[in-house]
Amino acid sequence: MKRIETVEEMTRITRHLQRSGKTVGLVPTMGFLHEGHLALAAAARSENDVVIMSLFVNPAQFGPGEDYESYPRDLERDAALAEGAGVDYLFHPAAEDMYPQDGGIRILPGPQADVLCGASRPGHFDGVLKVICKLFNLTQPDRAYFGEKDAQQLAIIETFVRDFNFPIEIRRVPIVRDEDGLAKSSRNVRLTNEQREAAPAIRRALEDGETAFRETGNPEAALSAVRRQLSKIPGAETDYAELLEYPSLAAAGEKTEEVIIAAAVRFGGVRLIDNVLIPVK
Ligand code: PAJ
Repeated sequence: MKRIETVEEMTRITRHLQRSGKTVGLVPTMGFLHEGHLALAAAARSENDVVIMSLFVNPAQFGPGEDYESYPRDLERDAALAEGAGVDYLFHPAAEDMYPQDGGIRILPGPQADVLCGASRPGHFDGVLKVICKLFNLTQPDRAYFGEKDAQQLAIIETFVRDFNFPIEIRRVPIVRDEDGLAKSSRNVRLTNEQREAAPAIRRALEDGETAFRETGNPEAALSAVRRQLSKIPGAETDYAELLEYPSLAAAGEKTEEVIIAAAVRFGGVRLIDNVLIPVK
């Protein structure tokens, strides 16, 4: 595996790969890798000649007072895990190299960013689209891999690619969980022992919501089940719990084919998200 530390070198290698005619799979990450990231890498490995993983804690997607500074980082550990997952190029540029100057151009997501995490983190998805646009241009992938863990991000990126004709196939990867059901997240290491013990209740609340929705077909019944369960988690504060059509993230209606029940929960300074996707017959 080759490590690439500058935008210039990434550009040079991308030119070379383009000429070679090899297919390229891109796995964008912010590092502190876990099995969720590695599942994306495995999918990319099985479908492409070359796998590029980016590892960049993107300042543009963190708001004031969010955890940009305290976001966990461990480059050496990540490099070993990425190499073990069959990554060919690990791209980890410095923030000053990715954002040398701000020309002021913004990429503004549409209504899909007005709900869920977009409502509680203003500007977050502008920052995600900005870095994704740069990573797509820098690596020119045939396919890019995103986890359903961040289902809203995935839905917005699919729209971005469609609206702007990026010649890239977006591949969805299911959520990877710990044995007790907690969705794997780089932020889980920041939970105290008590919080870590309580956190799997997020998944159980979403499952209760799924059961209520399947039984009644009623979004409100499902949501009150979820919110009731979430409110009982010790030390946790619910940021949101919502049921929406997926991937439009509009209100569910007669013609809805898939819904998402999504929740964000804060344990002190650690904010965790999770969701279930439910096909509607
Ligand atoms: P990060 O949180 O590091 O996640 C990188 C990718 O891994 C995302 O596509 C995310 O959905 C996926 N992922 C994380 N946990 C997962 C899990 N438990 N199961 C399956 N997939 C999981 O998401 C970001 O970084 C950033 O916003 C990024 C897209 C890199 C842009 O900066």
